[in-house]
Amino acid sequence: VTEPTAAHVNPSGEMANAFNSSRMDELSSATRGIIERRRNVLGPAYRLQYAKPIEFVRGEGAWLIDAEGRRILDAYNNVPSVGHCHPRVVEAVARQAATLNTNTRYLDQNILDYAERLLDTHDDALDNAMFTCTGSEAVDLALRVSRYHTGAEGVIISQHAYHGTTAATAAISPSLGRFVPLGKEVRTVGLPFGVPDDAAASWMAEQVAIAIADLERRGIRLAAFIVDTLFASDGILADPAGFLAPSVDVVHAAGGLFIADEVQPGFGRTGEAMWGYQRHGVRPDIAVMGKPMGNGMPIAGIAARSEVLDRFGRETRYFNTFGGNSVSIAAAAAVLDVIENEDLLARARTVGAALRSRIQAAVTGRAEFGELRAAGMYLGLDLLSDSARSETALAAEFVNSMRNHGVLISATGIHGQALKIRPPLIFDEENIETFMEAFTEAMADVER
Ligand SMILES: Cc1ncc(COP(=O)(O)O)c(C=O)c1O
Repeated sequence: VTEPTAAHVNPSGEMANAFNSSRMDELSSATRGIIERRRNVLGPAYRLQYAKPIEFVRGEGAWLIDAEGRRILDAYNNVPSVGHCHPRVVEAVARQAATLNTNTRYLDQNILDYAERLLDTHDDALDNAMFTCTGSEAVDLALRVSRYHTGAEGVIISQHAYHGTTAATAAISPSLGRFVPLGKEVRTVGLPFGVPDDAAASWMAEQVAIAIADLERRGIRLAAFIVDTLFASDGILADPAGFLAPSVDVVHAAGGLFIADEVQPGFGRTGEAMWGYQRHGVRPDIAVMGKPMGNGMPIAGIAARSEVLDRFGRETRYFNTFGGNSVSIAAAAAVLDVIENEDLLARARTVGAALRSRIQAAVTGRAEFGELRAAGMYLGLDLLSDSARSETALAAEFVNSMRNHGVLISATGIHGQALKIRPPLIFDEENIETFMEAFTEAMADVER
C-alpha cells in the first residue's frame, strides 16, 4: 500500500471537468458570446463545466433540456435528488410562497414539525436541529460549535476534502488547491484506498491518532474530526462500511467531536441508510446536511447533540436571516414526503446496484479502467493512465464524451481521475439503458 503524500495531490486545485477557455474557438459564436458576457459581468471566479458548456432551460425528473430542445440525462446533480422540478416540491414551494415567508424569530409550527421529522431519521442522540442556507454555513456553524464546546482549535480532515466556501470552511478544504491555505490548526489524513478491507479500519484510526499526536506536540488540542462519510472529493470511498468506527473512538478519547458531513451522502443517497454515518455504525456529535435537503431551495443545517450546543446557545446566539425560512422549510418537508412516498432509499439501493453491475460488466477486462467504488446512487470509477494520457486527461475525455452522447457525469478525486456518477434517486431501469448506451459510446471514443 502506498500511503498518499502531499506530492500526490493535484497542486493547481483546478476543478475537475472545468471548461478551459483556451478551447473557446471550438464553440459556436452564440456560445462564445454568452461565455464572454458571463465573464464580463460575473468576473473570473466562477467555473463552467465541460469542454462545451451547456445552457439548460428546463428540467423534468432525471432529464434536463438544453436551449436547442435536446434532452440530456442527468447522472450528476445531487441537489435535485428527488428529480428536477418534482411536482410535490414545486407545489409546496408555490403554496408557501403565496402564503407567508418569514424567519426563525417568530413562532411557526411548520419548522417544528419538520425539525422533529428530520431528527427522527437521525441517531437518537442528535436531538437539536438548526437551519442555514448553504452547506458551507452549516459546516462553519458546526466548527464554531465544536470549538466553543471543546475549548480546542484543532481540526482533522481527509486529504482531499471539500467542506465549503466561507473563510473557516475553505481553510479545511485542501481540494481547493495550494492557493487556498489550510489553517495552521488543521491536519489532513490519508484514506484507506487500496488497503485490504480487514485492515482499513485500523489503518484509518492510526492516521487519525498520528494527526492528533502531531497537533498535541504543537500545543493544539483537537476540537473536531470532520469527514464526508462517502469521501466524494477524495474520489469516493464507501467500503468497507464501518471503517470509520475506530477513528471516531480515537477522536472521542482525545476529547474531540466527530462531525459527519452528510452534504453528499445524506438523504438516502447510499440506499442503505438515510445518513452515511449510519452505514459506518458511528454516532456523530454533529451531522451537517445540505444540497438535496430542499431539492434546489437553499436550505441546509445541522443536527447536533443538545449537550454540545448548550453553552454555545446560551452565551452566543444564532440568527440566519434566510436559514429555515418558511418557503425553504416547505420544500424540505416535501422532499421528505417524496423520499418516503416513492420509497427512494430502496430505489437508490436497487437501481444503484443494477447500474453498478452494468458498469462493472462493461469495463471488466478494459485496460483504461480501474476500481469501481460505490454505495447506492453514488459511484466512482477510476481511470488509469497510459503512455499517452494521464488518468486525469482520460477521465476528462470520458466525461466530455458522455456529455456529447447526452449524459451528464463528472470527475473527482485527488487527480480528478475518478468518474463521478451520481444520478437522482428517482433514476430507473430505462434511465440505466440510456446511460449505458452513452457509456458504451464513450468507451469506444477513449479506446486505446
Ligand atoms: C461535503 C460537502 N460539504 C460542504 C459543502 C458546501 O455546501 P454549499 O455549496 O451548499 O455551501 C459541499 C458542497 O459541495 C460538500 O460537498
